[in-house]
Amino acid sequence: MPADTLTLTDNRTGKTYEIPIADGTIRAIDLRQIKTSADDFGMMTYDPGFLNTASCKSRITFIDGDKGILEYRGYPIAQLAEQSNFLEVCYLTLRGELPNPAQLAEWTAGIRKETSVDESSKNVLAGFQRDAHPMGMFISSLAALGTLYPESKRVSDPAVRLASIYRLMAKAPILAACGYRHSKGLPYVAPNPDLSYAGNFLTMMFASADGKYDLNPALERAMDILFILHADHEQNCSTSTMRVVGSAQTDPYTSAAAAASALYGPLHGGANEAVLSMLRVIGSKDRIPEYVQKVKAGEVKLMGFGHRVYKNYDPRARIIKRAADEVFAVTGKNPLLEMAIELERIALEDEYFVKRKLYPNVDFYSGIIYEAMGFPTPMFTVLFALGRMIGWLAQWDELVQDSDQKISRPRQVFLGPARRDFAPMDQR
Ligand code: CMC
Repeated sequence: MPADTLTLTDNRTGKTYEIPIADGTIRAIDLRQIKTSADDFGMMTYDPGFLNTASCKSRITFIDGDKGILEYRGYPIAQLAEQSNFLEVCYLTLRGELPNPAQLAEWTAGIRKETSVDESSKNVLAGFQRDAHPMGMFISSLAALGTLYPESKRVSDPAVRLASIYRLMAKAPILAACGYRHSKGLPYVAPNPDLSYAGNFLTMMFASADGKYDLNPALERAMDILFILHADHEQNCSTSTMRVVGSAQTDPYTSAAAAASALYGPLHGGANEAVLSMLRVIGSKDRIPEYVQKVKAGEVKLMGFGHRVYKNYDPRARIIKRAADEVFAVTGKNPLLEMAIELERIALEDEYFVKRKLYPNVDFYSGIIYEAMGFPTPMFTVLFALGRMIGWLAQWDELVQDSDQKISRPRQVFLGPARRDFAPMDQR
């Protein structure tokens, strides 16, 4: 018997099956041959939330959740955060290798040439109420952008794909900043392609009406690091959404809008916003034990804690904690930080969290830094989306070229009523 197989015996029929194993997985479709009779549909797996289903083969991001390891294309996240910059990491994420100077220059120029604010995007944003949530504005303006580039539907053309990738990387921070300025009733600030990716974004966000902004290098670097930390995280909820929507050959603007919609939720990217709301509800350090009791009683969740994959300290949270010190040296300490540190200390000593391996995740400290940098709380998830855009695009680019991939279409276990005849109204 070949070693790389799995032998299954169906005790309903006594039949034995030999299923090939490749890369530590069996193909779910190989289970379909397991039937109790000729008209049986065949065995499926039931996996709500995809706890144990690999939906693709990917070469982009590696996570070992038990050991707290995160690598983009083999490079440890801490090395990238310390030694690289966001645009270089974006190139790496998409292309698989670090760029040489000429490749980086070409990549940067490709993005820079797309930095303009479309009239149509301005009109879309102008239609929103001033108090509209920035993620709602961001998602809608991303989808609307796709209508300007109908050729982007030609997803099997590599040149068309690259043009869309450049444009989405360039336009996402513009849409984010314009959405913010719309909510404040401020005029838009034109992008400055001579600045770094993070520096340009901070300037478009915070410059005065005449475009002046004193860009602080420490804050610019912190923003860059935060983008790097969020760049990709393998098959998370929003990335899977990008792949599912992209599998229908939908254009990447609309697919990215769908991915951003998934990110919006409080269990995913919306958690950074929820952490700040939670810290404000707790109010002071002495009320933390009372709040932790509520978490343990199942009344509330400890936002920014826990992860589907990490059952150890999220390596991104560790780097963010360090970056926080550099930001606070410029901005002064955020009083919420002390509360967050104390909350972490209490939680990590508590049996409830220890037993369930619940540790701070990326969102636990990121919001505190964002707030210190002057971002309003509802903008936090938009910042996550800006960092994650390259991950969505790289995963989509990989999907489109993967000959194993088909349109996403899961199965279901049908538990509804068996066939029955329609009852007219007077007989119900
Ligand atoms: N607070 C309290 N209890 C928790 C938490 C939490 N934050 N997270 C998980 N648990 C408990 C959960 O109740 C369950 O307990 P029991 O076994 O008694 O039923 C156990 O831990 C296992 O949790 P789970 O819900 O099965 O875990 P999951 O993998 O389905 O959920 C999660 C992962 C991230 C959605 C969840 O941990 C959570 O809701 N965390 C808070 C929201 C958050 O911070 N999200 C950001 C995630 S990181 C960035 C990103 O991906 O966007």
